[in-house]
Amino acid sequence: MKPIILLTGKNGQVGGELLRLLPQLGEVVALGHDQLDLSNPADIRRTIREVRPQLIVNAAAYTAVDQAETDKKTAQAVNAQAPGLMAEEAKKIGAALVHYSTDYVFDGTKKTPYDEMDSANPINVYGKTKFAGEQAIRSSRLPHLIFRTAWVYAKQGRNFLLTILRLATEREELRIVSDQVGAPTCASDVAAATTKILSRICERNNRSFVFSKVSGTYHMSAAGQTTWYDFAKTMLEEAEATSHIPEWLAAATKERPLIARRLIPISTQEFGSPTHRPAYSILSNSRLIQTFGVALPDWHAQLQCCFVSDSIAANRGAD
Ligand SMILES: NC(=O)c1ccc[n+]([C@@H]2O[C@H](COP(=O)([O-])OP(=O)(O)OC[C@H]3O[C@@H](n4cnc5c(N)ncnc54)[C@H](OP(=O)(O)O)[C@@H]3O)[C@@H](O)[C@H]2O)c1
Repeated sequence: MKPIILLTGKNGQVGGELLRLLPQLGEVVALGHDQLDLSNPADIRRTIREVRPQLIVNAAAYTAVDQAETDKKTAQAVNAQAPGLMAEEAKKIGAALVHYSTDYVFDGTKKTPYDEMDSANPINVYGKTKFAGEQAIRSSRLPHLIFRTAWVYAKQGRNFLLTILRLATEREELRIVSDQVGAPTCASDVAAATTKILSRICERNNRSFVFSKVSGTYHMSAAGQTTWYDFAKTMLEEAEATSHIPEWLAAATKERPLIARRLIPISTQEFGSPTHRPAYSILSNSRLIQTFGVALPDWHAQLQCCFVSDSIAANRGAD
Protein backbone atom coordinates (compact mmCIF):
# COMPACT_ATOMS: atom_id res chain seq x y z
CA MET A 1 0.00 0.00 0.00
CA LYS A 2 1.24 3.48 -0.85
CA PRO A 3 2.15 5.68 2.13
CA ILE A 4 -0.08 8.70 2.74
CA ILE A 5 1.62 12.08 2.55
CA LEU A 6 -0.12 15.17 3.90
CA LEU A 7 1.06 18.30 2.04
CA THR A 8 0.16 21.76 3.34
CA GLY A 9 0.51 25.00 1.38
CA LYS A 10 -0.25 23.33 -1.96
CA ASN A 11 -0.83 26.70 -3.67
CA GLY A 12 2.44 28.24 -2.54
CA GLN A 13 5.67 28.40 -4.54
CA VAL A 14 7.34 25.35 -2.99
CA GLY A 15 4.04 23.61 -2.21
CA GLY A 16 2.89 23.91 -5.83
CA GLU A 17 6.09 22.27 -7.08
CA LEU A 18 5.90 19.53 -4.43
CA LEU A 19 2.36 18.78 -5.53
CA ARG A 20 3.75 17.78 -8.94
CA LEU A 21 6.56 15.60 -7.55
CA LEU A 22 5.42 13.97 -4.30
CA PRO A 23 2.92 11.59 -5.97
CA GLN A 24 6.04 9.59 -7.02
CA LEU A 25 6.40 8.67 -3.36
CA GLY A 26 2.90 8.03 -2.11
CA GLU A 27 -0.72 9.06 -2.04
CA VAL A 28 -0.72 12.81 -1.54
CA VAL A 29 -3.47 14.59 0.38
CA ALA A 30 -2.74 18.20 -0.56
CA LEU A 31 -4.42 21.09 1.23
CA GLY A 32 -4.44 24.82 0.60
CA HIS A 33 -5.07 27.66 3.04
CA ASP A 34 -8.82 27.46 2.41
CA GLN A 35 -8.90 23.76 3.38
CA LEU A 36 -6.56 23.89 6.39
CA ASP A 37 -5.93 27.13 8.27
CA LEU A 38 -2.70 26.79 10.19
CA SER A 39 -3.67 29.61 12.53
CA ASN A 40 -6.43 27.33 13.83
CA PRO A 41 -5.02 24.65 16.19
CA ALA A 42 -8.23 22.61 16.20
CA ASP A 43 -8.17 22.50 12.38
CA ILE A 44 -4.58 21.16 12.45
CA ARG A 45 -5.34 18.46 15.02
CA ARG A 46 -8.55 17.35 13.30
CA THR A 47 -6.91 17.18 9.85
CA ILE A 48 -3.94 15.09 11.00
CA ARG A 49 -6.17 12.74 12.99
CA GLU A 50 -8.47 12.25 10.00
CA VAL A 51 -5.81 11.84 7.30
CA ARG A 52 -3.41 9.77 9.46
CA PRO A 53 -0.42 10.33 7.15
CA GLN A 54 2.93 8.55 7.38
CA LEU A 55 4.59 11.81 6.37
CA ILE A 56 3.62 15.47 6.73
CA VAL A 57 5.29 17.97 4.39
CA ASN A 58 4.63 21.48 5.67
CA ALA A 59 5.17 23.92 2.80
CA ALA A 60 2.72 26.47 4.22
CA ALA A 61 3.99 29.51 6.07
CA TYR A 62 3.27 33.15 6.76
CA THR A 63 5.86 34.54 4.32
CA ALA A 64 4.82 38.22 4.08
CA VAL A 65 7.98 39.52 5.77
CA ASP A 66 6.93 43.19 6.03
CA GLN A 67 3.34 42.42 7.01
CA ALA A 68 4.55 40.12 9.79
CA GLU A 69 5.95 43.17 11.62
CA THR A 70 2.42 44.44 12.27
CA ASP A 71 0.59 41.10 12.28
CA LYS A 72 2.78 39.28 14.79
CA LYS A 73 -0.06 37.23 16.19
CA THR A 74 -0.87 35.49 12.90
CA ALA A 75 2.80 35.08 11.94
CA GLN A 76 3.45 33.50 15.34
CA ALA A 77 0.44 31.18 15.06
CA VAL A 78 1.30 29.96 11.54
CA ASN A 79 5.11 29.90 11.68
CA ALA A 80 5.78 29.02 15.31
CA GLN A 81 2.77 27.34 16.93
CA ALA A 82 1.45 25.36 13.94
CA PRO A 83 4.72 23.45 13.27
CA GLY A 84 4.88 22.57 16.98
CA LEU A 85 1.31 21.26 16.90
CA MET A 86 1.98 19.32 13.71
CA ALA A 87 5.00 17.71 15.35
CA GLU A 88 2.97 16.82 18.45
CA GLU A 89 0.16 15.23 16.42
CA ALA A 90 2.58 13.51 14.02
CA LYS A 91 4.40 11.96 16.94
CA LYS A 92 1.18 10.48 18.31
CA ILE A 93 0.54 8.59 15.05
CA GLY A 94 4.19 7.71 14.29
CA ALA A 95 4.46 10.06 11.30
CA ALA A 96 7.56 11.97 10.21
CA LEU A 97 7.66 15.69 9.37
CA VAL A 98 9.36 17.70 6.63
CA HIS A 99 9.35 21.43 7.29
CA TYR A 100 10.90 24.48 5.62
CA SER A 101 12.64 27.38 7.29
CA THR A 102 14.67 30.37 6.25
CA ASP A 103 18.02 32.12 6.00
CA TYR A 104 16.29 34.92 7.98
CA VAL A 105 16.92 32.98 11.20
CA PHE A 106 20.41 34.56 11.01
CA ASP A 107 21.28 38.20 11.63
CA GLY A 108 23.48 38.52 8.53
CA THR A 109 26.55 39.85 10.32
CA LYS A 110 28.78 36.94 9.22
CA LYS A 111 30.97 37.28 6.14
CA THR A 112 31.22 33.58 5.30
CA PRO A 113 28.43 31.06 4.64
CA TYR A 114 26.25 30.14 7.60
CA ASP A 115 26.22 26.48 8.56
CA GLU A 116 23.72 24.61 10.73
CA MET A 117 25.92 25.00 13.83
CA ASP A 118 25.88 28.81 13.64
CA SER A 119 23.73 30.51 16.24
CA ALA A 120 20.45 31.93 15.05
CA ASN A 121 19.71 35.54 15.84
CA PRO A 122 16.72 36.64 13.76
CA ILE A 123 16.30 40.38 13.31
CA ASN A 124 12.68 40.57 12.16
CA VAL A 125 9.35 39.09 13.22
CA TYR A 126 9.22 36.64 10.31
CA GLY A 127 12.68 35.27 11.17
CA LYS A 128 11.83 35.07 14.88
CA THR A 129 8.59 33.17 14.27
CA LYS A 130 10.25 30.78 11.79
CA PHE A 131 13.03 30.04 14.27
CA ALA A 132 10.47 29.42 17.03
CA GLY A 133 8.76 26.93 14.67
CA GLU A 134 12.07 25.10 14.14
CA GLN A 135 12.67 24.91 17.88
CA ALA A 136 9.19 23.56 18.54
CA ILE A 137 9.81 20.76 16.04
CA ARG A 138 13.28 19.96 17.40
CA SER A 139 12.07 19.85 20.99
CA SER A 140 9.21 17.49 20.08
CA ARG A 141 11.85 14.85 19.30
CA LEU A 142 9.84 13.49 16.40
CA PRO A 143 11.76 12.34 13.30
CA HIS A 144 11.99 15.44 11.14
CA LEU A 145 13.83 17.18 8.34
CA ILE A 146 13.95 20.96 8.51
CA PHE A 147 15.23 22.48 5.27
CA ARG A 148 16.31 26.11 5.52
CA THR A 149 16.12 27.76 2.15
CA ALA A 150 16.51 31.34 0.90
CA TRP A 151 15.28 34.06 -1.49
CA VAL A 152 12.68 31.70 -3.03
CA TYR A 153 11.04 32.47 -6.36
CA ALA A 154 8.90 30.56 -8.85
CA LYS A 155 7.10 31.14 -12.12
CA GLN A 156 3.93 31.82 -10.13
CA GLY A 157 3.15 33.42 -6.79
CA ARG A 158 4.46 36.56 -5.11
CA ASN A 159 8.19 36.95 -5.57
CA PHE A 160 11.04 39.24 -6.60
CA LEU A 161 11.38 37.71 -10.10
CA LEU A 162 7.77 38.41 -11.06
CA THR A 163 7.72 41.82 -9.35
CA ILE A 164 10.82 43.06 -11.19
CA LEU A 165 9.61 41.76 -14.55
CA ARG A 166 6.28 43.54 -14.05
CA LEU A 167 7.94 46.78 -12.93
CA ALA A 168 10.28 46.61 -15.94
CA THR A 169 7.22 46.91 -18.21
CA GLU A 170 6.00 49.97 -16.31
CA ARG A 171 9.11 52.06 -15.51
CA GLU A 172 12.24 53.11 -17.42
CA GLU A 173 14.27 53.29 -14.21
CA LEU A 174 14.39 50.76 -11.40
CA ARG A 175 16.17 51.32 -8.09
CA ILE A 176 17.30 48.01 -6.57
CA VAL A 177 19.02 47.20 -3.29
CA SER A 178 22.64 46.21 -3.90
CA ASP A 179 23.99 45.67 -0.39
CA GLN A 180 22.11 42.50 0.58
CA VAL A 181 23.84 39.28 -0.42
CA GLY A 182 21.94 36.02 -0.88
CA ALA A 183 21.29 33.04 -3.12
CA PRO A 184 18.03 33.23 -5.12
CA THR A 185 16.58 29.73 -5.05
CA CYS A 186 13.99 28.39 -7.46
CA ALA A 187 11.06 26.63 -5.75
CA SER A 188 11.21 23.80 -8.29
CA ASP A 189 14.79 23.00 -7.23
CA VAL A 190 13.77 22.93 -3.55
CA ALA A 191 10.91 20.56 -4.38
CA ALA A 192 13.12 18.38 -6.58
CA ALA A 193 15.84 18.12 -3.91
CA THR A 194 13.26 17.31 -1.22
CA THR A 195 11.69 14.59 -3.37
CA LYS A 196 15.07 13.10 -4.24
CA ILE A 197 16.05 12.97 -0.55
CA LEU A 198 12.74 11.41 0.48
CA SER A 199 12.93 8.87 -2.30
CA ARG A 200 16.45 7.82 -1.23
CA ILE A 201 15.27 7.47 2.38
CA CYS A 202 12.32 5.36 1.21
CA GLU A 203 14.51 3.14 -0.98
CA ARG A 204 16.82 2.41 1.92
CA ASN A 205 14.01 1.74 4.38
CA ASN A 206 11.61 -0.59 2.63
CA ARG A 207 9.38 2.22 1.29
CA SER A 208 8.90 3.96 4.61
CA PHE A 209 9.92 7.40 5.80
CA VAL A 210 12.46 6.45 8.47
CA PHE A 211 14.42 9.57 9.38
CA SER A 212 16.09 8.32 12.57
CA LYS A 213 19.71 8.54 11.40
CA VAL A 214 19.29 11.73 9.36
CA SER A 215 16.69 13.61 11.42
CA GLY A 216 17.75 17.24 11.81
CA THR A 217 18.20 20.66 10.22
CA TYR A 218 19.80 21.20 6.81
CA HIS A 219 20.56 24.20 4.62
CA MET A 220 19.06 23.87 1.13
CA SER A 221 19.68 26.88 -1.11
CA ALA A 222 21.10 27.61 -4.55
CA ALA A 223 24.87 27.53 -4.89
CA GLY A 224 26.72 30.80 -5.45
CA GLN A 225 25.81 34.28 -4.30
CA THR A 226 24.50 37.56 -5.65
CA THR A 227 22.68 40.74 -4.63
CA TRP A 228 19.09 41.79 -5.35
CA TYR A 229 20.55 44.32 -7.83
CA ASP A 230 22.58 41.74 -9.78
CA PHE A 231 19.73 39.24 -9.66
CA ALA A 232 17.40 41.85 -11.21
CA LYS A 233 19.98 42.82 -13.84
CA THR A 234 20.58 39.18 -14.77
CA MET A 235 16.88 38.31 -15.01
CA LEU A 236 16.21 41.28 -17.31
CA GLU A 237 19.15 40.23 -19.51
CA GLU A 238 17.79 36.69 -19.65
CA ALA A 239 14.29 37.96 -20.47
CA GLU A 240 15.62 40.17 -23.29
CA ALA A 241 17.69 37.29 -24.70
CA THR A 242 14.85 34.74 -24.71
CA SER A 243 13.83 33.81 -28.22
CA HIS A 244 10.84 31.63 -27.26
CA ILE A 245 8.90 33.51 -24.61
CA PRO A 246 7.71 31.01 -21.99
CA GLU A 247 4.06 31.23 -20.93
CA TRP A 248 4.80 32.36 -17.38
CA LEU A 249 6.90 35.27 -18.69
CA ALA A 250 4.15 36.35 -21.07
CA ALA A 251 1.75 36.28 -18.09
CA ALA A 252 4.16 38.18 -15.81
CA THR A 253 4.67 40.98 -18.34
CA LYS A 254 1.12 40.79 -19.74
CA GLU A 255 2.96 40.52 -23.08
CA ARG A 256 4.08 44.17 -22.79
CA PRO A 257 7.65 45.11 -23.78
CA LEU A 258 10.34 45.57 -21.14
CA ILE A 259 11.02 49.34 -21.04
CA ALA A 260 13.39 49.51 -18.04
CA ARG A 261 16.68 50.88 -19.36
CA ARG A 262 18.36 52.07 -16.18
CA LEU A 263 18.95 49.95 -13.11
CA ILE A 264 20.19 52.03 -10.20
CA PRO A 265 21.93 50.22 -7.32
CA ILE A 266 20.79 51.62 -3.97
CA SER A 267 21.53 50.83 -0.33
CA THR A 268 19.11 49.14 2.06
CA GLN A 269 18.97 52.46 3.92
CA GLU A 270 17.99 54.35 0.75
CA PHE A 271 15.29 51.77 0.02
CA GLY A 272 13.90 52.61 3.44
CA SER A 273 11.99 49.46 4.38
CA PRO A 274 10.89 49.56 8.02
CA THR A 275 11.72 45.82 8.29
CA HIS A 276 15.29 44.76 9.09
CA ARG A 277 16.74 42.16 6.71
CA PRO A 278 20.09 40.35 7.00
CA ALA A 279 22.83 41.95 4.89
CA TYR A 280 24.43 38.57 4.25
CA SER A 281 22.50 35.32 4.26
CA ILE A 282 24.49 32.77 2.30
CA LEU A 283 23.89 29.27 3.60
CA SER A 284 26.49 26.53 3.42
CA ASN A 285 24.88 23.43 1.92
CA SER A 286 27.75 21.09 2.85
CA ARG A 287 25.73 19.10 5.38
CA LEU A 288 22.96 18.46 2.85
CA ILE A 289 25.47 17.35 0.22
CA GLN A 290 27.43 15.12 2.60
CA THR A 291 24.36 13.48 4.13
CA PHE A 292 22.14 13.00 1.09
CA GLY A 293 24.43 13.51 -1.91
CA VAL A 294 22.04 16.18 -3.17
CA ALA A 295 23.21 19.64 -4.30
CA LEU A 296 21.15 22.46 -5.75
CA PRO A 297 22.48 24.14 -8.91
CA ASP A 298 24.05 27.59 -8.96
CA TRP A 299 21.50 30.47 -8.69
CA HIS A 300 22.24 31.68 -12.24
CA ALA A 301 21.75 28.21 -13.74
CA GLN A 302 18.43 27.92 -11.84
CA LEU A 303 17.33 31.29 -13.21
CA GLN A 304 18.33 30.38 -16.78
CA CYS A 305 16.21 27.25 -16.51
CA CYS A 306 13.10 29.40 -15.99
CA PHE A 307 13.72 31.21 -19.27
CA VAL A 308 13.80 28.06 -21.34
CA SER A 309 10.49 28.02 -23.20
CA ASP A 310 7.89 25.72 -21.62
CA SER A 311 7.55 23.74 -24.85
CA ILE A 312 11.33 23.19 -25.06
CA ALA A 313 11.40 22.19 -21.38
CA ALA A 314 8.53 19.75 -21.94
CA ASN A 315 10.34 18.19 -24.92
CA ARG A 316 13.53 17.88 -22.90
CA GLY A 317 11.60 16.16 -20.11
CA ALA A 318 10.30 13.64 -22.62
CA ASP A 319 13.80 12.73 -23.87
N1 LIG B 1 9.57 32.89 -0.14
C1 LIG B 1 10.83 32.99 0.28
O1 LIG B 1 11.60 33.85 -0.17
C2 LIG B 1 11.38 32.04 1.32
C3 LIG B 1 12.71 32.21 1.75
C4 LIG B 1 13.21 31.34 2.71
C5 LIG B 1 12.41 30.34 3.23
N2 LIG B 1 11.12 30.22 2.80
C6 LIG B 1 10.30 29.17 3.42
O2 LIG B 1 9.99 28.21 2.42
C7 LIG B 1 8.69 27.66 2.66
C8 LIG B 1 7.86 27.77 1.41
O3 LIG B 1 7.71 29.16 1.10
P1 LIG B 1 7.08 29.67 -0.26
O4 LIG B 1 8.03 30.61 -0.87
O5 LIG B 1 6.55 28.53 -1.04
O6 LIG B 1 5.87 30.53 0.35
P2 LIG B 1 4.54 31.02 -0.36
O7 LIG B 1 4.66 30.96 -1.83
O8 LIG B 1 4.18 32.30 0.32
O9 LIG B 1 3.51 29.88 0.08
C9 LIG B 1 3.09 29.76 1.40
C10 LIG B 1 1.72 29.14 1.38
O10 LIG B 1 1.27 29.08 2.74
C11 LIG B 1 -0.08 29.44 2.75
N3 LIG B 1 -0.51 29.97 4.04
C12 LIG B 1 -0.29 31.18 4.58
N4 LIG B 1 -0.95 31.30 5.74
C13 LIG B 1 -1.58 30.12 5.95
C14 LIG B 1 -2.43 29.62 6.95
N5 LIG B 1 -2.79 30.37 8.01
N6 LIG B 1 -2.91 28.37 6.83
C15 LIG B 1 -2.59 27.61 5.77
N7 LIG B 1 -1.82 28.01 4.76
C16 LIG B 1 -1.31 29.27 4.85
C17 LIG B 1 -0.22 30.50 1.68
O11 LIG B 1 -1.56 30.58 1.26
P3 LIG B 1 -2.22 32.03 0.96
O12 LIG B 1 -1.31 32.67 -0.05
O13 LIG B 1 -3.56 31.67 0.47
O14 LIG B 1 -2.23 32.75 2.27
C18 LIG B 1 0.69 29.95 0.59
O15 LIG B 1 0.01 29.13 -0.31
C19 LIG B 1 8.14 28.41 3.88
O16 LIG B 1 8.39 27.67 5.04
C20 LIG B 1 8.96 29.68 3.92
O17 LIG B 1 9.04 30.21 5.23
C21 LIG B 1 10.59 31.03 1.85
